[in-house]
Amino acid sequence: MGCGAWLAAGCLLSAVITRIPNSIASADPGLRRSLQLPCVFEMRKTIPLSNKTETVLLNVRLLLPTAGAQGALRPWTESLPADNLPSFIVQEPSVNILQHADEDINMLDCRISPYFTANTQILWPGREVRAHGMDTWFTCTIKHTAGKYAATAFLVQGLEDREHQTPAQLHQDITEQTHVSAVLAVRTRLPQVRTALGKDVVLDCAFAADPRVDVAVRWALRQTGRHEKRIATSSGGRAEMFPQEPRGNASLLLRRVELSDEGTYICAVQAAALELEQAVQLQITEKPTVTVNVNSLSLVEGEQQKLVCDIRNYYPADIQVQWLREPRGAGQLPDTVPNVLTSSHRRSSNGTYSFSRFFLLTANLHDNGRTYTCRVEHPSLQAPIRRSVTVAVREATSTTWLLLLLLGLTGCLVAALHQFHKARSTTKPKPY
Ligand SMILES: *[C@@H]1O[C@H](CO)[C@@H](O)[C@H](O)[C@H]1NC(C)=O
Ligand SMILES: *[C@@H]1O[C@H](CO)[C@@H](O)[C@H](O)[C@H]1NC(C)=O
Repeated sequence: MGCGAWLAAGCLLSAVITRIPNSIASADPGLRRSLQLPCVFEMRKTIPLSNKTETVLLNVRLLLPTAGAQGALRPWTESLPADNLPSFIVQEPSVNILQHADEDINMLDCRISPYFTANTQILWPGREVRAHGMDTWFTCTIKHTAGKYAATAFLVQGLEDREHQTPAQLHQDITEQTHVSAVLAVRTRLPQVRTALGKDVVLDCAFAADPRVDVAVRWALRQTGRHEKRIATSSGGRAEMFPQEPRGNASLLLRRVELSDEGTYICAVQAAALELEQAVQLQITEKPTVTVNVNSLSLVEGEQQKLVCDIRNYYPADIQVQWLREPRGAGQLPDTVPNVLTSSHRRSSNGTYSFSRFFLLTANLHDNGRTYTCRVEHPSLQAPIRRSVTVAVREATSTTWLLLLLLGLTGCLVAALHQFHKARSTTKPKPY
């Protein structure tokens, strides 16, 4: 059968098969389903007659077999949508790139780039060493845009696959269908980890590779403004791996997390001449302890009271603290209390921050029954912390007024007497 006839048969078939968006139902129920991901093919090209490079982006599709039954070779060629989008078809034998793929395929960011081998052949079990011509290599990166997981893989297209490609070239570098094998994959189920100080944390990393290949895993820490630091994973130290776990587990256990552990951890997996990295970000957050100096207040009109909100031992420094005057009616918004002052920030030896926000409340009858709330928002908190003070304000009674008047009068009298005494002592003639 010629190429043309073969293609025509393919088109005919694809017209009959019902398609589910983002996944392809195979025509044969014996074949496993594949996952269809929209991808961007990214390539750097040298601009002719200059030494500049440009990045060329091209929309492609990646077809991944999902884990499960042993599929036949190239089970999806017939059911590709006839949209002329170049496809990378991952075929057997391959390692599993996306173990955790679920329904939210639209949340995946997928990139494929050529991997230049500098004209050396990469030795890999099961791949022939040839005198003429070489395999074509690609790297593929898939990231969940909400940080649920991430994976990178090496894809290889054999020489024989390239020779049997369909002649329809959509782009000078990639063809309509590129049949590749995934030979090495590194994944993490948690690219961003948050933990509190002093806790133990597992930085997740796993690899998949042919069992005949020796694999070495190394962890390093990247922190802004510093050199990359290799993590020593000796047993008994604060950082350890899981040697007793089955092959493929490259996770790192970090004990008693300290502030200086924060940064981007690189899980670097080396197999033969190939190396893949997966980044896991470790962020430390410590919840603030929030207290107010009083819970309820009973004041006389005109009296003053300092309301202090204490925010202790939180991390990172970025925080929002407000004093609010709650509304009386439902459905109204609280007012922000004006003239609130901030104490200086303190830093404790474990690196956490503390400070307070306070203001002077002058009791006003309008404030009787009011609630004042200190509201704290911080990245460590799911919902803001609120601490409230209820204020009761009494009218100054007549006896109070009398008392104040009496006090005032007494004050005046004392002052007058004092003045009088002073005047007398200075005008007294000297005794000579
Ligand atoms: C590796 O093993 C540890 C310890 O049993 C486990 O917590 C972790 O989830 C494993 N990681 C992977 C990627 O399988
Ligand atoms: C950090 O230090 C402060 C002050 O010494 C202490 O109160 C707080 O509990 C410490 N936090 C942690 C997580 O150890």
